[in-house]
Amino acid sequence: MDCRHIQFCVQDGTFSGHENCPRKIDLHQLQNLFQAAAFWAQERRLQDWKIALANSKPVVTVWDGERLIGFARATSDGIYRATIWDVVIHPDYQGAGLGRKLVETVLMHPHVNRVERVYLMTSHQQKFYERIGFEVNSTTTMVLFNQPVSQDGLPIAAEVTP
Ligand SMILES: CC(C)(COP(=O)(O)OP(=O)(O)OC[C@H]1O[C@@H](n2cnc3c(N)ncnc32)[C@H](O)[C@@H]1OP(=O)(O)O)[C@@H](O)C(=O)NCCC(=O)NCCS
Repeated sequence: MDCRHIQFCVQDGTFSGHENCPRKIDLHQLQNLFQAAAFWAQERRLQDWKIALANSKPVVTVWDGERLIGFARATSDGIYRATIWDVVIHPDYQGAGLGRKLVETVLMHPHVNRVERVYLMTSHQQKFYERIGFEVNSTTTMVLFNQPVSQDGLPIAAEVTP
């Protein structure tokens, strides 16, 4: 697959692999991308995506023209710890090196590239991340399944971990 026309965009504008990066994330396209490729994020609502995007840095998107075909985001304290979340390349574009470039774009971002440790969680893609330099780290992982509530106090369905 010829991917020379594929654009990588960094939402906060502090770093971009391409100078012209006018893409604004369309939440409907984002939802469709995750419904096509991310088993852990099938039930996500648009208003919750908005919150996740606002609290993530960097947010990296991948575009074939107007079509959103890839996404990844990180949260970071800028120096000690960062975590990469929601790495996805649309099935039509997998296997062409875009996933690697996507993760590397996150890792190069100034909010991530100085931190001591970069974490991520994955159920099935260890081999992919190992190709990029990540190591299996089974000793430090714990999780609290918080009971999320909406603004009106009603429970929101919990998600599956990727
Ligand atoms: C995981 C994912 C992002 C990889 O994206 P991709 O564009 O297909 O990956 P790339 O083509 O950049 O692959 C990079 C390298 O990893 C290898 N690789 C990719 N997926 C792999 C897999 N499942 N098993 C083993 N190796 C894999 C590639 O062969 C390539 O190796 P190379 O460096 O020797 O050429 C993509 O398959 C995807 O979106 N999957 C569904 C969502 C998902 O599972 N995301 C991860 C959640 S933690």
